[in-house]
Amino acid sequence: MRKAKTVNETAVTDHTYKIFPNDLNSYGTVFGGLIMSILDRVALVVAERHAEATCVTVSVDSMHFLAPAQEGDILLVSGSMNRSWRSSMEIGLRVVADHYKTREKKHILSAYFTFVAVDKDRKPIEVPEVTPETPLQKRRFEEAGIRREQRKKDAEERRIRRQSKIS
Ligand SMILES: CC(C)(COP(=O)(O)OP(=O)(O)OC[C@H]1O[C@@H](n2cnc3c(N)ncnc32)[C@H](O)[C@@H]1OP(=O)(O)O)[C@@H](O)C(=O)NCCC(=O)NCCS
Repeated sequence: MRKAKTVNETAVTDHTYKIFPNDLNSYGTVFGGLIMSILDRVALVVAERHAEATCVTVSVDSMHFLAPAQEGDILLVSGSMNRSWRSSMEIGLRVVADHYKTREKKHILSAYFTFVAVDKDRKPIEVPEVTPETPLQKRRFEEAGIRREQRKKDAEERRIRRQSKIS
């Protein structure tokens, strides 16, 4: 196992994205797929900083848009490592919309991405452990363990369903 890393060593804090008219859907709010793409990139940066290796997205926990982002908003995206296991890592993401005139801030969404570090043959490789330092980081570390158990259960159920369709 490689030397553990702290959360702060790899975190992305307030990555900014200025909303322009071509980012809006026909309803006049930001296209959700754009936000998902930004999140995937920010999470990838955190994962690859942590693993010091190429990482791939393996799953995204349920994603709920809590409020719409609109023209005039600046998206502030933060991402940090919640926990790592053998080759996989859970990264937590949070998006806040900050209006440039009113400075009103809205929590747009939170999501959890799982990445796996891979070698040149796309085989999973070991990643460093995470050392949570603050009470918040410790809480996220513990909760990530609970989500991992749920993800494993879900994956097993999907495997069984796929098998029963094949046979
Ligand atoms: C990621 C990948 C290399 C893993 O290969 P695999 O044969 O499933 O490998 P393993 O079964 O050994 O699992 C590797 C790790 O992934 C985790 N994992 C696998 N499927 C998962 C899922 N659906 N959700 C969360 N974690 C998952 C495992 O728990 C394991 O974690 P650990 O090593 O920390 O214990 C393979 O699934 C893959 O290439 N997927 C496509 C990824 C990709 O291309 N992403 C971009 C999308 S365009």
